[in-house]
Amino acid sequence: MRAVEHLDEQRILDGLPVDARARLRSLAVLGEVDSTNRYLLEGKAFAAGMHACVAESQSAGRGRRGRQWVSPAGANLYLSVLRILDAAPRSVQGMSLVFGVAVAKALESLEVSGVTLKWPNDVLLDGDKLGGILVEIAAVGAGPWRAVAGIGINVHMPGDAGAGIDQPWADLASRVARPGRNRLASRVLAEVTAAWERFADTGFDGFRRDWDSRDAVRDRAVELHDGSQVLEGTARGVDADGALLLEVDGAHRRILSGDISLRLAR
Ligand code: BTN
Repeated sequence: MRAVEHLDEQRILDGLPVDARARLRSLAVLGEVDSTNRYLLEGKAFAAGMHACVAESQSAGRGRRGRQWVSPAGANLYLSVLRILDAAPRSVQGMSLVFGVAVAKALESLEVSGVTLKWPNDVLLDGDKLGGILVEIAAVGAGPWRAVAGIGINVHMPGDAGAGIDQPWADLASRVARPGRNRLASRVLAEVTAAWERFADTGFDGFRRDWDSRDAVRDRAVELHDGSQVLEGTARGVDADGALLLEVDGAHRRILSGDISLRLAR
C-alpha cells in the first residue's frame, strides 16, 4: 500500500527560500475544495500581495476551455497563487506561458528530466501531459483586481481516475522517483512567485529564451484547434507577447488562442 504524504503547511513554508517566503502573504492548505482557483478568485478579502492555496482534492477542478481537471484525493498537486492588482492587468497574454516555464524549472530543480512545454499551457513529460496551467482574472466589486495562476501536476494518479483523461498523460511516479508533494509545492511556489515578479518588469519577453529551449513543438507540423476550426501549419515558436507563430502556406500567422496537437504523417 502506497503511503500518502499529506500536505503540511509548515513543511511547505520551511521548504521556501527566504525571498519566496517574503513574497507570500499567506498559504492555505485545504482538504477538499471545489477548485483552488475559485477559492482564491472569489473567496474572502485578501491584503495586497501574493497568496497561495493547495488542496488534497478538488471536486470541480477547472481545466482550460471549460474542461474538468481530474483531481483525486491525496494523489497530485493542485495549487493556486493569487496576486492582488491595483488595476486591470495590462496584458495577460503570455502569463500562462510564464508559469509553465516556472513549473518546468521547479521540476528540473528536483532533477526531473524530459520536461517540455506545449503552447499555451501544457507541461509535458517525455511528450505526455504531466500538468497544466489555468490563469484566471476577476474584478471584485469596485475593488482591486485578482489574478490567479492555477497549477495542476500529476504526481501519482490512481489508475481508475486516470482513465477519465482524454489524452496521453504522465505522472511523476510512473516515470521518475516520486518527489514528496510538500517539497514539490515549495519548489513550484518559489518559482511561480519569482516569475510573477519578473513578469511585472519584463512581460513575456523576459521569458522567451526559457520558453524556446523547452518548446515541445517548434518546427513541427501541427494542427491548431479553435472551436470548430482546424488550421494546419508548422509551429515556428512564439513572439515577444507569447503568441504562437504558425507558418501556413509560407506566411506567419500570430495565434492568440486554441489548442495544438502534433499532425500525424499522412
Ligand atoms: C489545463 O487545462 O491544462 C489547465 C489545468 C489547470 C488545473 C489546475 S489544478 C489547480 C487549479 N485549480 C483549478 O481548478 N484548476 C487549476
